[in-house]
Order: sequence, then structure tokens, then C-alpha cells
Amino acid sequence: MEEKVFYITTPIYYPSDKLHIGHTYCTVATDAMARYKRLTGYDVMFLTGTDEHGQKIEDKAKEAGVTPKEFVDRIVTGERGILDLWKLMNISNDRFIRTTDEYHVKAIQRVFRRMYDKGDIYKGTYKGKYCKPCESFWTESQLVDGKCPDCGREVQDAEEEAYFFRASKYAGRVRDLLTGTDFLEPASRVNEMVNNFIDCEGGLQDLCVSRTSFTWGIPVDFDEKHVVYVWLDALFNYMTALGLENDAHDDLDKYWPHAVHFVGKEIVRFHSIYWPAFLMSLDLPLPRKVYGHGWLVMDGGKMSKSKGNVVDPYILAERFGVDALRFFLLRTFPFGSDGNFSNELLINTINVDLANDLGNLVSRSTAMVEKYFGGALPKTGVSEPVDEELLAMAKALRGRYEAQMERFQFQNALEEIFKLIQRANKYIDETAPWVLAKDEAKRDRLAAVLYNLLETVRICAVLLTPFMPASCDKIFDQIGAAACERTWDSAAAFGVLHDGVTVRKGEAVFPRIDAEKELAELEALEAAAKKGAAPAIELEPYAAESVDFDTFCKSDFRAVKVKACEAVKKSEKLLRFTLDDGSGADRQILSGIHKFYEPEQLVGKTLLAILNLPPRKMMGLESCGMLISAVHRENGEEKLHLVILDDAIPAGAKMC
Ligand code: ME8
Repeated sequence: MEEKVFYITTPIYYPSDKLHIGHTYCTVATDAMARYKRLTGYDVMFLTGTDEHGQKIEDKAKEAGVTPKEFVDRIVTGERGILDLWKLMNISNDRFIRTTDEYHVKAIQRVFRRMYDKGDIYKGTYKGKYCKPCESFWTESQLVDGKCPDCGREVQDAEEEAYFFRASKYAGRVRDLLTGTDFLEPASRVNEMVNNFIDCEGGLQDLCVSRTSFTWGIPVDFDEKHVVYVWLDALFNYMTALGLENDAHDDLDKYWPHAVHFVGKEIVRFHSIYWPAFLMSLDLPLPRKVYGHGWLVMDGGKMSKSKGNVVDPYILAERFGVDALRFFLLRTFPFGSDGNFSNELLINTINVDLANDLGNLVSRSTAMVEKYFGGALPKTGVSEPVDEELLAMAKALRGRYEAQMERFQFQNALEEIFKLIQRANKYIDETAPWVLAKDEAKRDRLAAVLYNLLETVRICAVLLTPFMPASCDKIFDQIGAAACERTWDSAAAFGVLHDGVTVRKGEAVFPRIDAEKELAELEALEAAAKKGAAPAIELEPYAAESVDFDTFCKSDFRAVKVKACEAVKKSEKLLRFTLDDGSGADRQILSGIHKFYEPEQLVGKTLLAILNLPPRKMMGLESCGMLISAVHRENGEEKLHLVILDDAIPAGAKMC
């Protein structure tokens, strides 16, 4: 018989700043999965935590004038910190690991030594580039336009004596793992990993796994001027939290073989290449799966702490309700792809799905049971053909939902539920209980109609529980469902609610939101936050080498129309534009703006370009001109907006 054990993890987040809605998204998804598995009878271990070492944290602490430990303590355990956020969001993690926990520190030292003793870690000199926000090492050739290929930010020179992990030794086995199994999902991420990091020029590079240029890390115990590279320290959290190389926990054997890691797509590389290679080196079993989820983006750019374009989950949860926010995140965005976050979308989802569809179904059904039966509903079983479709859908729902949940397709699972909810609302109109109520002879039929509605609500509430646990409890209370009528088994059958079930019509579980008022208030809040953060703008002064008027006039600025736009393969940054410049021939321009825009946002737009620049090659492709953008800084981070012209301006129009 299949062993019903499940282990699921979130990334351990950097406590370099308050967490935002992107982190909340991943943690809520992981929580929904953990709750779903518990609902289906699994013994679940759900781990989250914080990744507390590294240069970035050391720098931040210095800026704040506190020790790194004081700094992370404030963010992790302080008021409205990470622990408070997960409590507010009703996250049901069984454990929380901090990489500064003593047992983890000791375990990492042992792990490092084991790999060294085996000859898989050796001493050398690191010379290359380092991206501090990503805590990632790069070689010159891996950079894209001289910047970090993961996040597009500036990198710094790094040269130091360092220990290296022989990743190259495991390249073949890791390739087989990625291409021959379903270890990494979505499958679309496999080629990117294999082509860019394993089958690339020079093959899989050995990984630098120690630093000497700062001290905030786990010391290598046999060479104390080195601290362990933060990614080696961090990845092993998934096992130290279960007892690898420590006595603090003792459930590695039980949970580890069932491990599923949810991680954002930017850290798939660490989880699908280096993590298995580390484990292979130690002859440890591999986790079952790594799932790389998409990003929440805003106006086309990734939301991130260091960019300052973040959305505060506290504000949203407190304004709209924890369950409404949880639901929105998983209902709106397909887990494997990026999703564009907006307040409008959030409010719209709450109003349409929760207040209208689900909320109305619950309140209309319970109100009618109160009105026509004084609150206690007899089970009469009088059926009519009009019931058939609703009942068939309700009976099939659990299976359809399960198929989607098992593939982590939360959006599709919720879509299945909402199809049934919409069908049930239609059923109310078809059966018109208020007409049946006028005829005493149809009383049993009326009871059956209302029973079918309560049953539908009950099944939906069972399956919605992983997403909105507190609200589903309220719904169960309102429809009078007993404990045994809230279980996974009970969701597969129709007709489970007991005879005489007593409803308690309470307040609306999901009140409607006044969209206009809320949006205005949220915008005001965001504007105030931005104003506080906006730096003074420094203009270039006039100088002898400034552009003279004649030179300026030589620049050929033209309106161009985007015919096609696509991401350049192997580049995190570059977009390749095919443009109509009015000449009749297509013009190709490459622009390093992928972190600000997705290609599909730009097709059809009228942009401004300078065309008479000498052609330039980037990633082997020729760029004939340059698109003009407006650039500014916000919260210390670069922001970019392409200059988008009125569509009435024809391609080729000259700017002067
Ligand atoms: O990378 N959209 O920590 P981190 C969706 N400490 N998810 C997002 C997101 C966004 N805009 N922004 C962040 C680290 N996330 C390492 C992890 S694990 C051994 C070490 C989520 O604080 C997403 O899951 O930068 C992403 O992978 C994670 O937060 C990164 O968090």
C-alpha cells in the first residue's frame, strides 16, 4: 500500500527586509498543499524558515548599526515580522528553521567536512563576479550585458581564496535526473537548466562554496577564516530540519523520501542542479520533486524587496481578509507561470467569486432553509430530472479537483469548484424555490431542492478548506455540517448531510468590497509610501563635452511599431524586437529590458528609437538602433519605462 507521508517546503527566505506578497504567494501555496494532503489523510511535515547568513544581511545590519543576529531577529521574530506574518496568514507549518539555529550550524560544519574528506570540496582561488542580492557567483561569460543573469543587477569583482565543490563530477547524473525523470517541474524549466548550465560551453562549473571577504556565515571548522557559502548552508536546511547530522530532530528517514520543494523560478538552478549534486556527493537520497513556480510581477517587472515595488501582505490581509487574499493568490495566477498583480484584480476576484458566486450561494441557501423550514431541513429525497446535472457535477468534483491538486495546479482545482458553484446558482433559478414554497403539495420537493444546494455547498467547502480554512469553518457552521460531514471521504458522496440539519444564517462570510473607494484608498497609501522614498533627482550639468545642437540634430529619432518581440534565449535580460520603422523592411533592435517588461506586453506598441547608431552584436544577434526609455531610481533601485508614443503616430515619423 502507498505510504501516506508527505514532506513539503518553501524556500527559506532572506530576512534582509520585510517579506512581501511574492513570498506570501509561495508560502500560501505550500500551505494549501500541506492542508490538502492532511485532508486526504497524509502524515504531513511542512517546513518553512529563514536563510539568515550572507553578505547582504551583514551589510544591511551594518547600515542599521546592529549586529547581524540582532538585525535578523528583528525581522524574523519582531512585531509584524516573518513569524507574525505566517501566523496572520494562517500558515500551518509544522517546523520553522532559522539557519542560525545551533543544530543547523553544527550540522552544516559536519556536512562540509564530509564533502571535503571525500575530495568533493577542494581549495582554490575564486576570481570572478558576485551578485550580492542573489548571493550568486558568476564567471564573466555567464553575465548578460555585464550584469547578473538571474536578476539583471550589477555584479562586483570578487577574488579570494576559496573552497570549491566538484559539481562537474556530478554533471552527468544531474543531467539524467533532469531529463530522464519528473524531478523538476514544470517540465518547461528542464531545457533551460540543462542547456544553460550543464550542456553549455565549458560544462557544469565547480561551485565556489566558501567566502573569506566577510564573516557573517557558518565558519568552516577546519579553516576558520572561511565561512560556508550561504547557498550550501541554506539548501541543507531541508534535511537538517529533519535531523541530518544533528540530534535536534529525528524524522529524516520518515519524511525525506517524500520531499517536495516549492521554489521560485529564479532559484530553480540551485535546487535542481547543485542541491542534487551535493546530495549525490554525500550518497544521500534525493528529494522527490522541485517545483519552480512563477513570479508575481507588477507592471511587467518582478516584485522584489530591493526594487521597492513590493506589495505589503499585511495591508491587504487586514483590509480584505486573510482568506480572501489566500484565495485570490491561488485562484488568479497559474502556479507555474508569472502573474501580473494588481489591486483591481484582487478586488474583482473577491467580489465576483467570493461575494457574488460563493457568498450568495451560501446566503441564499441558508436564508431559504430558515424562511421555509424554520432552519431545520428534512431529508426528503424527492428528485427531478433538473437535479441530474448538478448532482453529477457535484459527485465528480472531488476526483477532478484531486487530479489538479496532485499536479499543483491550484488555479484549475479552484476553477473546478467554481464551475459547480456557478451551476448551483443557476439551479436556484431553474428550480425557483420561492415558487415551490407557494404550493404546500410541493413542500417535500422544496426541501429536496434546498438539500441539494446545502450538499453542494458542503462539498465545495470541504475542497476549499485548504485554501480558506477559517471561512470554510464558518460556512460549515452556517449550513450545520457535523464533523463527519466535513471530511475528504464525505466530499466524494452526495447525500451526506443528516436529516434535520440545522442552518444558522450568520453574517456574510465574504462581504462585497466597494471597489472605487478601496482603490482610491490603496492608491493614496502607495503614493504616500513612494513619495517618502523618492530621492532628489540630479540633472547633468552643462559641460564642455556636452552635446552641441548640431550633433544632437544628427540623431535620427523615429517612431517605430513593435511587430514582434521575444526573449533572447539564454539571456535573462535581452528582448529582441522586430520593428516597423516605416522603411518597408523589418528592423531588429535588442534591448536589455526583460526585467521590466514581458514581450507580450509590447507587441503592437508605438515606441521611440534612435536608428542611426552603428549596429551592435549582443548574444550573437545584431541590434540596429536603440529604444528610448525613461530611467529613474526608486528605493535605491533602477526603474525603467519605455517611451511609448500615441498609436496615431505612424511608423517612421521623425522626432525633432
Ligand atoms: O532566494 N513572486 O530567498 P528570498 C513570486 N534565501 N514569488 C516570489 C517573489 C515574487 N515576486 N519574490 C519572492 C532566497 N518570491 C533564498 C532561498 S532556499 C534554500 C534559499 C518567493 O527571500 C519565491 O518563492 O529571495 C522565491 O524563490 C523566494 O520567495 C525567494 O526568497
